[in-house]
Amino acid sequence: MVEKREIESLVRKHIESKFSSRKQKEYIVAANWKMNMSAKETRRFIEKVKEEKIPDYLKTVIFPPYPYLPIFQEMLRYDKITYGAQDVAKEEKGAYTGEVSAAMLADLGCSYVLAGHSERRNYYGETPEIVARKTAAALRYHIRPVVCIGETLEERQGNRYHEVLKVQLDAVRQEIGDALSDCIIAYEPVWAIGTGVIPGLDQIGETHRFIHELLVSYTGISERASRILYGGSVNEKNVKDIASVQFVDGFLIGGASLKAENFMNILRLLRVDGS
Ligand code: 13P
Repeated sequence: MVEKREIESLVRKHIESKFSSRKQKEYIVAANWKMNMSAKETRRFIEKVKEEKIPDYLKTVIFPPYPYLPIFQEMLRYDKITYGAQDVAKEEKGAYTGEVSAAMLADLGCSYVLAGHSERRNYYGETPEIVARKTAAALRYHIRPVVCIGETLEERQGNRYHEVLKVQLDAVRQEIGDALSDCIIAYEPVWAIGTGVIPGLDQIGETHRFIHELLVSYTGISERASRILYGGSVNEKNVKDIASVQFVDGFLIGGASLKAENFMNILRLLRVDGS
């Protein structure tokens, strides 16, 4: 006769083994260098990060300034660390002085491109329609767009942020339709960028859920297919807490990604073994 306690213990063990064999959640950990670093610093950074043992569930992406992309192509050709550009032209080719096309980025081995970072929207007048066209341009060359959306402090305080985020996403959807499910979305509240201030975890959770539900309602993408990164003052102190929030699938990191040591510490903190 088997004791009830033994049965319970067996059931518990079975559940635990199922749980531990469950696939580890993947995170995309992206570095946006903005207009920082030199060629020498870029090489040194790549050398250090290449030495790091990065598990497959941490997808690492670096967005350097355009001129350093060839260094990434040369040094990371057979590496699982990927890279992309911080911007892309909305046009295909032609007389657009200063612009860089999606075809050129594909030539340089870019897997990703940022579209609509708030600094582009605010300082360079990128409207939701321009961002949408840039997103479409990247997709035509099989480069995965990371579409950045986010509200200002005024919009947050006026409780208009849902509306603002929806307008930003709607424009992209109008341009590319269901291909929106091929995009990664980066939620970056403008007031959290470079300020050291992050929203409360409940605010991040609520906003990511809102974005997730919008994506699902638009594209019918499955529960786990949406990819929503959080960006804005992410660092070694807060990354683990933010990672625990539902619908946070990774990070877009500015200041804390400029030193290899800081960036690698963030990757280490996200490893299940924490080492
Ligand atoms: P910080 O991490 O410096 O706040 O920048 C965030 C950002 O804008 C990443 O794209």
